[in-house]
Amino acid sequence: MTAPVLPPNAETFARAASCLEAGGLVAVPTETVYGLAADAANEKAVARLYAAKGRPRFNPLIAHIPDRRAAEREGRFSPVARQLADAFWPGPLTLVLPVAETGTVCELARAGLESVALRAPNHPVAASVLEAFGRPLVAPSANPSGKISPTEAAHVASDLGDVVDLILDGGPCQHGIESTIVSCLAEAPQILRPGTITQVEIEAVVGSLDKAAAGGIDKARPIAPGQLSRHYAPDAHLRLDAEKPEPSEAYLGFGPGPATANLSEASDLVEAASRLFRLLRWLDERHDRIAVAPIPRTGLGLAINDRLALAAKRD
Ligand code: TXA
Ligand code: MG
Repeated sequence: MTAPVLPPNAETFARAASCLEAGGLVAVPTETVYGLAADAANEKAVARLYAAKGRPRFNPLIAHIPDRRAAEREGRFSPVARQLADAFWPGPLTLVLPVAETGTVCELARAGLESVALRAPNHPVAASVLEAFGRPLVAPSANPSGKISPTEAAHVASDLGDVVDLILDGGPCQHGIESTIVSCLAEAPQILRPGTITQVEIEAVVGSLDKAAAGGIDKARPIAPGQLSRHYAPDAHLRLDAEKPEPSEAYLGFGPGPATANLSEASDLVEAASRLFRLLRWLDERHDRIAVAPIPRTGLGLAINDRLALAAKRD
């Protein structure tokens, strides 16, 4: 069944909010592109979102919030980050910040990073959905992985109509390219993704960025340590694609059968993705060696295997 395309009004905002509350996916227009929104705190909803996009790996997602006050609950702002938010929010600027202690964006949405990407969209429909829902929404562009970003509700309906629950039609998007992403993890801000707001506009607020920080101009230069926050990596030794555990190993199962912990007894990849980070941490706190059941390399299974391979790598 294909999702209804609805005009934005008080009734459809409330309907969108209750759909999101129930773990649903709602396509919402922003000033950049249409986003596919899900409850940022709901691991199951976020797993469905990755499945809908068909991405082969868990890219971290942008969490949308109404304003800086809401953002301060999610990320730790440096003085420079505050300057940028005050200059460009609401608007097409995304800030990457260290996760705040009060943060609610789930680990799956952050792809295991200790940082969080935040943006306050400048669009009446996006703002109204955020207000009706009352908590952060992750919203990557509402297109399947590898296709171009949608700037009209009809694009979303034709590309993702059968996997989203609801599409709000706010007409064509103003900008058509995604937000500029600026990392504020190190002292000097760094452009991670060029977008609607230009380097010149950013420099007018925070002073000149050096070449590497200006975003991909000097790609060969390695990013300084501390610029990227680390992926969660377990201390335990991980053995992947294990049909059964050795006596010394805990077993992270998938599908029916005995296991120390099970990603999904029903062999459901969405459930497995939603539990992956939590169960890895739980096992890591209790065991030195973890064997992991084979996970099919299809659909969301690709992203799960990619994440497990990263976690198993020792350096
Ligand atoms: O314009 C936009 O930003 C659109 C509209 C819908 O708001 N949204 C969007 O979201 O493009 P999304 O989730 O597709 O952007 C994800 C990108 C990642 O690929 C990564 O580049 C960056 O945001 N990102 C997210 N979290 C990050 C983090 N913790 N560290 C570094 N980069 C991060
Ligand atoms: Mg995209």
